[in-house]
Amino acid sequence: MKFPEYFLWGAATAAYQVEGAWNEDGKGPSIWDMAAHEGGHIRYSETGDVAADHYHRWREDVRLMKEIGLKSYRFSISWTRVLPNGTGEVNQKGLQFYRALAKALREAGIEPIVTLYHWDLPMALQKQGGWKNEEIPRWFQEYVRVVTEELSDLVRYWITFNEPQMFLGLGYELGAMAPFEKNDEDTILKISGNLWRAHGRAATVIRRLAKRPPLIGMSPTGDVWLPESHTREGEEDARRRSFEIAQYGYTMGNSWWSDPVYLGKFAPGALERFGDRLPRFSREEWEEISQPMDFYGFNAYQGTVEYKLTDETYVTYGYQGCPKTMSGWCVTPEVLYYAPRFLYQRYKKPILVTENGMAGMDWRALDGGVHDPQRKDFIHRYLLELSRAMKEGIPVIGYTYWSLLDNLEWNHGYDIRFGLIHVDYQTQERTLKDSAYWYGEVIRTNGECLEA
Ligand code: BGC
Repeated sequence: MKFPEYFLWGAATAAYQVEGAWNEDGKGPSIWDMAAHEGGHIRYSETGDVAADHYHRWREDVRLMKEIGLKSYRFSISWTRVLPNGTGEVNQKGLQFYRALAKALREAGIEPIVTLYHWDLPMALQKQGGWKNEEIPRWFQEYVRVVTEELSDLVRYWITFNEPQMFLGLGYELGAMAPFEKNDEDTILKISGNLWRAHGRAATVIRRLAKRPPLIGMSPTGDVWLPESHTREGEEDARRRSFEIAQYGYTMGNSWWSDPVYLGKFAPGALERFGDRLPRFSREEWEEISQPMDFYGFNAYQGTVEYKLTDETYVTYGYQGCPKTMSGWCVTPEVLYYAPRFLYQRYKKPILVTENGMAGMDWRALDGGVHDPQRKDFIHRYLLELSRAMKEGIPVIGYTYWSLLDNLEWNHGYDIRFGLIHVDYQTQERTLKDSAYWYGEVIRTNGECLEA
């Protein structure tokens, strides 16, 4: 199948994972800088201090993107590079870094897609409670205003939040990501309200100030269940499970975060379960939170499947010996068929796949190349499933491979590699992996070579 002409073939990164330069040119510390320096959170106490040195090597990286033939590049802005203390004083040098990057991307014919928040909360704000503080929608709005004023002549695509499931669910409820807190349920409900308000305020400010007509969305993740049987009932069951709020770990689900934003109401079952402990919003606030979005960004790595162990017990980690990537995630290409389908049918917005990819254990071979046949096969399988959904009429506007570069994989440090481009962390030398050349061919043929 030929993908639509406008299709955004892209790759993504996030500031803390690639930029390095953690305290250069006036940047303030974020919760991830602090966690890394504290030690014990990232494998071998590695840090993002240098990471892939994208802050200094972005010109080379844009050249490599052009060489691959990317149509879009999704990157995140580090809040503390722009506002070192989270609010107040603006750091012009930080802002100019993003301006230069966005400008170079435009000149290279690559659409910049900006994520406003990819987990690196300013430490100064965390000291005031971070996402627990009800001032955070206002803080976020101020930061988004500064970024919009500076970049919106160059940037059209805006993503407010990357995966609230992770930075709030894992960060504030389960204590597995910065700031590594375990809060009680009432606090989590309050934090959820703060996130929804912050999203709404950010969208309002972008719409009010943007110099080019903006396209705004959010990039959640969440369990998408794959049907156990390819029947109507099987599919309905998978759909129901994909949107219910789980008894344990409800903040990891799809509907918890997305229903208020995309449907203007709480997820099914939320009212019955939490009653008046849920955040209260006035009509105006609901309108702001659920103002129409332009697309639904989704990060998809694996579908959730239940495997039978015995007649009574089931697991979701995968069947014995199932194919897995280096992060332990099951290779389940059908997620790129079902996720766009379920999400579009529920939220009625074009889908932008904002992340999909696999962790490998890649190194430079003696011949100087980086040979990663599994990554090629992985992307190939997933894209075929995506095109199946599109052939059935699901509007998908782009596919963004995670990640452009090998980078700091949060708690895993540098051990596992997601990149299309290999990074030698000792020398910072970049090498295009075989998968990058192959992905370039997919882009050049606009998807046609997938079925050849
Ligand atoms: C995140 C990325 C992360 C990737 C692979 C997503 O959850 O947005 O920052 O590196 O998955 O784990």
